Amino acid sequence: MSMAKLMFVQAFLLLMIYSKKSDGQWCIADEQTPDRELQMGLDWACGIGGANCSKIQVGQACFMPNTVKAHASYAFNNYFQKFKRRGGNCYFNGGSITTDLDPSK
Ligand SMILES: *[C@@H]1O[C@H](CO)[C@@H](O)[C@H](O)[C@H]1NC(C)=O
Repeated sequence: MSMAKLMFVQAFLLLMIYSKKSDGQWCIADEQTPDRELQMGLDWACGIGGANCSKIQVGQACFMPNTVKAHASYAFNNYFQKFKRRGGNCYFNGGSITTDLDPSK
């Protein structure tokens, strides 16, 4: 096998490993997005989107911090984790990003 081919195979394997790892991805609200837009995404995710938003209701475990960003991140991620295997994606009008970091940590 030539050096170039070997490197190609290596890169391919790394890509496989990486994409497997990205299974543990999180979908959170983008810092840059105005709250007004995040609120719309949040309403969608918790409504038609089908995310389970019970934990960000008043008095529930994830209500604090009570910010649109925190709630949107929770809802986006809940939706994403629930539906990514069925083609759901982390795209809320561009108001969200995927990250490899667990936001709960
Ligand atoms: C939503 O999450 C709460 C708390 O985790 C759970 O008790 C409830 O059954 C869930 N509701 C649905 C519709 O999955």
